[in-house]
Amino acid sequence: MTTRPTIAPGDLDTLNLADPRLHAESDLSAVWRHLREVEPVHFNPPVGSAPGFWVVTRHADVTSVYRDSTRFTSEGGNVLETLLAGGDSAAGRMLAITDGERHAGLRRLLMTAFTPRALEPVVASVRRTVRRLLRDAIERGTCDFAVDVAAGIPLGAICDLLGVPDSDRAHVLALTSSALGSHDADSTAADAWIAKSEILLYFAGLARDRREGGHADVVALLASSRVGGLPLDDDEIMLNCYSLILGGDETARLSMIGAALALLDHPGQFRALKQGDVGVGTAVEEMLRWTTPALHSGRTATADTEIGGRPVGAGDVVTVWNASANRDERVFDTPDRLRLDRTPNKHVTFAYGPHFCLGAYLARAEIAAVLAGLRDLVATMEQTGPAKPVYSNFLSGLSSLPLALRAG
Ligand code: HEM
Repeated sequence: MTTRPTIAPGDLDTLNLADPRLHAESDLSAVWRHLREVEPVHFNPPVGSAPGFWVVTRHADVTSVYRDSTRFTSEGGNVLETLLAGGDSAAGRMLAITDGERHAGLRRLLMTAFTPRALEPVVASVRRTVRRLLRDAIERGTCDFAVDVAAGIPLGAICDLLGVPDSDRAHVLALTSSALGSHDADSTAADAWIAKSEILLYFAGLARDRREGGHADVVALLASSRVGGLPLDDDEIMLNCYSLILGGDETARLSMIGAALALLDHPGQFRALKQGDVGVGTAVEEMLRWTTPALHSGRTATADTEIGGRPVGAGDVVTVWNASANRDERVFDTPDRLRLDRTPNKHVTFAYGPHFCLGAYLARAEIAAVLAGLRDLVATMEQTGPAKPVYSNFLSGLSSLPLALRAG
């Protein structure tokens, strides 16, 4: 069980919701509840040179912003970090921060690599990897679930998709963690920037290689296709490879680690899963809601408008908080209870509308493999040391979870 100090709604005036430490070190559920109830569209004031931003907390308002990429564009950046820094240089070229026809064309192309059929071999490999990693952890008796089990799963799947050779995978994992700068309180923006540049250079090399033909991976698909009648240049290929790794590795990892912690904290639910009283399908959806690894998404208002009746100006930064919408009592019955048989479960963990997560099917398959593995192979779990949070205003979860796993 990890308990963090609860922040009281009375402290709201002094809070900066862009501060990674706030999300890592405290429990904001009372603040979210208060905002949903009293001030569902709140303004986080400017701090230093960073502009202020709107904080949207109700499920209905969150989905209405997600749905409307004309009024709320992603092209100014889609997370606080880039929005507050004044934009993202990959706008209009990387899927998640492109809108309109270019987005639709690029998405149609990438979707062909993310259909259940195209992913069949990747998912089969995920299932084998999960069982191998769990068996190894059980045999050793203790493990860091984050490092020894979860870290090997999503990145392996993305590397399969991108055709990254086995020998490069540890290097790519290390760069991915530093690029999001979320693993310790002291990592700097410069560390993250260097890691990000190295990832981009790595994929530029892979793109050059794939232009020569003879491969059937996503890099080769991007290198051999046209969007809007024109081929993609090396920059576009490398940016979209980068976005798959950053979008699909740590998010999925955090949901698996969070799922293991949730089963540990809720032994009755673990028992229900093991006895077959709840199915893996509904359990996956509840774990996605419960863990909400992507705390928020960001947009820029393209014109003077309103959200939930509150005026928002052209150019304003708007953030929608999945973490709050997923606990909205207007949509979820007993939202603060983990119920693995919850249906319906309209969580917004993968967003909503035109930018709905491209990797949702893959992520669900990965979490399902972990839950099925824990159900079939593990009798008991015990925490053997302190868990460590990630430090981020965008990602939420644990970078370390020491466990003892016993077979059964
Ligand atoms: C539990 C795991 C995951 C979570 C919580 C998650 C969350 C999200 C969210 C919230 C968005 C929308 C961002 C926005 O609207 O600005 C998104 C988009 C996206 N995700 Fe995921 N994701 C996960 C797994 C994956 C995986 C496994 C991949 C690929 C391997 C992936 C690739 C993408 C891409 C490419 C987009 C952009 C889609 C677009 O703009 O059309 N994600 N994801």
